[in-house]
Amino acid sequence: MEDLEDIVLDAMTWTRQAGAVLMSYFRKSGLETEAKMNESDIVTAADKASEALLLGNIRSKYPNHAILSEESGAAGCVSSDWRWVIDPLDGTTNFRAGLPAFCVSVGIEHSGKGVAGFVFAPYLDEFFHAVSGEGVFLNGSPVHCSDTDRLERSVVATGFPVDRSTNGDDNTAAVLRVLPKVRGLRRLGSAALETAYVGAGFLDAHWEIALHEWDVAAALVIAGEGGAISTRFRDDRGVSVLTSTPGIFHELLPMVR
Ligand code: IPD
Ligand code: CA
Ligand code: CA
Repeated sequence: MEDLEDIVLDAMTWTRQAGAVLMSYFRKSGLETEAKMNESDIVTAADKASEALLLGNIRSKYPNHAILSEESGAAGCVSSDWRWVIDPLDGTTNFRAGLPAFCVSVGIEHSGKGVAGFVFAPYLDEFFHAVSGEGVFLNGSPVHCSDTDRLERSVVATGFPVDRSTNGDDNTAAVLRVLPKVRGLRRLGSAALETAYVGAGFLDAHWEIALHEWDVAAALVIAGEGGAISTRFRDDRGVSVLTSTPGIFHELLPMVR
């Protein structure tokens, strides 16, 4: 496959650099913040600076590649076989509040299929990377999804859509079904990091409705390479996805739908 090795090295370098950009804003006063759809859907100067670094590098080295990035939308050469799917800061609400679960997420697609994924949580110093067929690595060491096969021993995570103040289809019904059945239910606030954690075995599953491609493009490659299963369980509510270790996937799926 044309240039994948070069693309992977560049993506790793730029993802790390974008993480350093985020850290230069983290827990500093006066962070410029704007509401997008509502006050639960925000963008800060840090999101924009991280995105500018990533897009600047991609455009100058790979001007013929397509890009989909949260704050700028579709860019680059749309007819390319290659597409970079970017969330320059996933977990902006955490970031804005000073909480550590946030990351940069960079996915690489070829002919519409995810072939590599990079998720970097700079405050936690956790860099996940995966290339199709090569497994998943956390800070260079191989990791794998858990072998949990009993729901009552599982720790699972979810999240809630940003339109929840006006749309009752807000995932709480699924939470009521899952909560009594699992050892722990978490809401870490970064779908990319939560999905990568499933691939690394730190969470047994993550599900969420109304996400976007950029939230999970990179992490789904990571989760898959770690041995997890994922499926889009609805097609009427954005990207609605369950990612799970195989041992509890089939039991969870009907509960989250
Ligand atoms: C959000 C996070 C959060 C999820 C939201 C996403 P953002 O992304 O992934 O965990 O629950 O639905 O929008 O806005 O921080 O990039
Ligand atoms: Ca996001
Ligand atoms: Ca974001």
